[in-house]
Amino acid sequence: MLGAGYVGLVTGACFAELGHEVVIRDVLPERIEQLRAGEVPIYEPGLDEVLERNGDRLRFTLDVHEAVDGADFLFIAVGTPPTYSGDADLSAVWSVVDELPPELPGQPLVVMKSTVPVGTGEHVRARLDARGLTGVGYVSNPEFLAEGSAVADFMSPDRIVVGSFASEDADRVVELYKGVETEIVRTDVASAELVKLAANAFLSTRISFINEIANVCELVGADVVDVAHGVGLDRRLGPHFLRAGVGFGGSCFPKDITALKQLAGNSGYPFLLLQAVWEVNELQKRRVVAKLQKHLGSLRGRTVALLGLAFKPNTDDMREAPSRVIAYRLLAEGAEVRAWDPIARPDDLHGVELSDSVVDAVRGADAAVIVTEWPELRELATPEVREAMAQPLIVDGRNMLDPVATRAAGFLYEGIGRPRHASPAEPPARDRDRELSR
Ligand code: UDX
Repeated sequence: MLGAGYVGLVTGACFAELGHEVVIRDVLPERIEQLRAGEVPIYEPGLDEVLERNGDRLRFTLDVHEAVDGADFLFIAVGTPPTYSGDADLSAVWSVVDELPPELPGQPLVVMKSTVPVGTGEHVRARLDARGLTGVGYVSNPEFLAEGSAVADFMSPDRIVVGSFASEDADRVVELYKGVETEIVRTDVASAELVKLAANAFLSTRISFINEIANVCELVGADVVDVAHGVGLDRRLGPHFLRAGVGFGGSCFPKDITALKQLAGNSGYPFLLLQAVWEVNELQKRRVVAKLQKHLGSLRGRTVALLGLAFKPNTDDMREAPSRVIAYRLLAEGAEVRAWDPIARPDDLHGVELSDSVVDAVRGADAAVIVTEWPELRELATPEVREAMAQPLIVDGRNMLDPVATRAAGFLYEGIGRPRHASPAEPPARDRDRELSR
């Protein structure tokens, strides 16, 4: 496994769980030291147990020769972040390919796990051939791991996609997954590469779609939670990825939309729908500011508590997290921003004060914004929180609280796309009085 990042670690650990011998190689010495010491460098539920249980089948190394020596499969699981132009940065893929020793006995297969533009397989094939590694096969086997459920996603996937130039190469990869019950999708390499990008682009499209429906709900007096429920019961549509909120983030969706948009554009086709999906998501994060202004007027000098920083619960990952945009927008409006997250501890959120508890974050605050649906926030509408806040305004950016119960508990409540449950812009007298005494 070349790459001990999120995908490489989870995939390597799970292959060991299936009974295979796995050597995981990374270029970061501190990462390999940590792993050798039994520490797990990322937060992923269940991963530590899988690593521990399979310790005798797993090795960690900095040395590419040690990793590939005698290997039947050479999985590439390195990062492919977007560059300034929006194209995927494949430099880590090329360094791995170029580092492979010139002689690889035993006819190993190179298997691409990283998300790459369509056409990468052809290029890797050509580079392997140019290096004299003509006997080394190539297979595209994209990952569909969602953070927080990655181990389960590997063990019980919706499908395994295997794209190959030669069917016997695909057979070998399929055999490797013995023990995992699911549908196998065999394709050519380009189609496998596109399945990954298209799946993530479609999921993102569903989210931006329901967020736009939520915005319409706010204008016409409908409730997006009920609308999504009614829509999702149509078996042709299904209930998934229809939760309206403050937008999507993470290491995959924004990157993969950009990559697909760029890929289409470079090939001469402007992918207009994805441009809209992106734009809607950018606006969605920013709409929180207007919701706060509706109640508080100018945000200058106001204190806002952001509850949740990770791009979704059960991870400490803040890559492309909506919390980043919301935090900096609020700072730009002159607000003081406090933040709480149970595990994300960013050191690059400049100007934002990190709090150790929800109550500390909301103490004296003019508003609390739920940015990530951490389970502990279900109990947010308590007397303790209401008393601690300067004004009991909750903007529920994930529609996780019950609007009626929250208002009954003495809070002003704003959800996303739930106007029937929106609070009047005028705060109740008690809060006006408090405000006058500020
Ligand atoms: C995603 C894909 O699910 C996975 O298959 C792929 O391999 C990598 O990208 P991940 O980024 O870990 O996984 O998280 P996911 O659970 O899919 O959520 C992505 C973002 O969408 C989060 O910010 C989440 O809050 C948001 N989201 C999701 C919504 O806003 N509404 C929804 O209904 C669902």
